[in-house]
Amino acid sequence: MKNISILGATGSIGLSTLNVISSNPDKYKVFALSAKSNWEKMLSLCTEFKPSYAVMVDPDAAAELQKLAPEGVEVLSGISAQNFIASHKNTDYVMAAIVGSAGLASTFSAVTAGKRVMLANKESLVLAGSLLINAAKKYGAQLIPVDSEHSAIFQCLQAGTSGLKKVQLTASGGPFLNKKLHSLGKVTPEQACAHPNWKMGKKISVDSATMMNKGLEVIEAHFLFGLPAQHIEVVIHPQSIVHSFAYFTDGSVLSQLGLPDMRSAISYALSFPERHPSGVEDLDLTKQNDLEFIAPDMQKFKCLELAYSSLKNGDSSPATLNAANEIAVEAFLENRIGFLDISSTIEKTLLEAPIRVLDTLDSVMENDRLSRQVANSVIESSA
Ligand SMILES: NC(=O)c1ccc[n+]([C@@H]2O[C@H](COP(=O)([O-])OP(=O)(O)OC[C@H]3O[C@@H](n4cnc5c(N)ncnc54)[C@H](OP(=O)(O)O)[C@@H]3O)[C@@H](O)[C@H]2O)c1
Repeated sequence: MKNISILGATGSIGLSTLNVISSNPDKYKVFALSAKSNWEKMLSLCTEFKPSYAVMVDPDAAAELQKLAPEGVEVLSGISAQNFIASHKNTDYVMAAIVGSAGLASTFSAVTAGKRVMLANKESLVLAGSLLINAAKKYGAQLIPVDSEHSAIFQCLQAGTSGLKKVQLTASGGPFLNKKLHSLGKVTPEQACAHPNWKMGKKISVDSATMMNKGLEVIEAHFLFGLPAQHIEVVIHPQSIVHSFAYFTDGSVLSQLGLPDMRSAISYALSFPERHPSGVEDLDLTKQNDLEFIAPDMQKFKCLELAYSSLKNGDSSPATLNAANEIAVEAFLENRIGFLDISSTIEKTLLEAPIRVLDTLDSVMENDRLSRQVANSVIESSA
């Protein structure tokens, strides 16, 4: 029996993780859950899963939860409480499913405590990839990817990386794949969040619409698999059935296929190196006669190009790209900027913010704070 702590339990990945755990009650037990402010959802999860700890980062939400929490569930509050459950001696595996840079501190706590970290929070690696990878080696932590594309490559590389030439991440192309660039200026947050294949949180849905999500994933793949940018390609595959490719020197190409349902990748991260039921239906390839693969339009999906160039520039560039993206996506969701302003805000922030060496967690946090200031002033000056 493995004790699982889920950071970001009330979100899309958190709930899918709980669903997989429910299908395997003899293998996994919910030890601790965290969320930011949605205490009503957390209350229902506490009632159903009876964790030892429930953390609300927001103190007012924690106070509300405390009033109604079932007996045996200890309610805690704040970022330090989140780090506490991530590194608790009774936690075996940590699902890192907080959205955005807010996930870094608890991911880092879990890694330095030597846990198995099931990494959905790709932003952690974009912000502090080298620090996390080095800490995982030093403290004996396992970083298992949960992003379906990286899970696919991780699965394809189980026999080793001998002869690996390149990887190719598949991308759905999002809701605007077939729209012309000039028509994107007027799209609404609702349209951007209406993903054709995946049901996800709002931030990652907008990232999918701009293809920044794939850009962040290119950076994530660089750190996870130790590959340079030129050996990480992106191909648009609108059906989201093939979840990425690994190309080898002998002409072989390995891939992993499945229905677009995050429970497969979550289940693999939980059960690795074994496989357990995830609740996902079998794929019937006779019903998939129209699998397409298309090169991405880098002009239309400028964010993808910016992510590649930030990775090539190195040091703080990917972290600054991430900070600017988080600020720009928030502004777009609040109708303060248009869809196409997301990429221009990021581009201007990258030009204005100095490139720094990030060799400590504090320097990463400081760069994040300063880059957000630059991105906010870019938005204000163009209003
Ligand atoms: N959804 C997917 O299919 C998918 C696929 C691959 C990777 N991912 C990655 O997984 C992560 C989570 O995505 P999601 O779609 O599950 O997001 P989501 O549905 O928006 O859920 C986010 C979770 O994080 C919590 N949270 C938000 N801000 C926080 C903060 N400052 N401190 C602590 N907790 C905070 C939220 O709590 P409240 O509910 O209280 O706000 C919620 O539990 C992202 O990094 C995303 O890129 C997602």
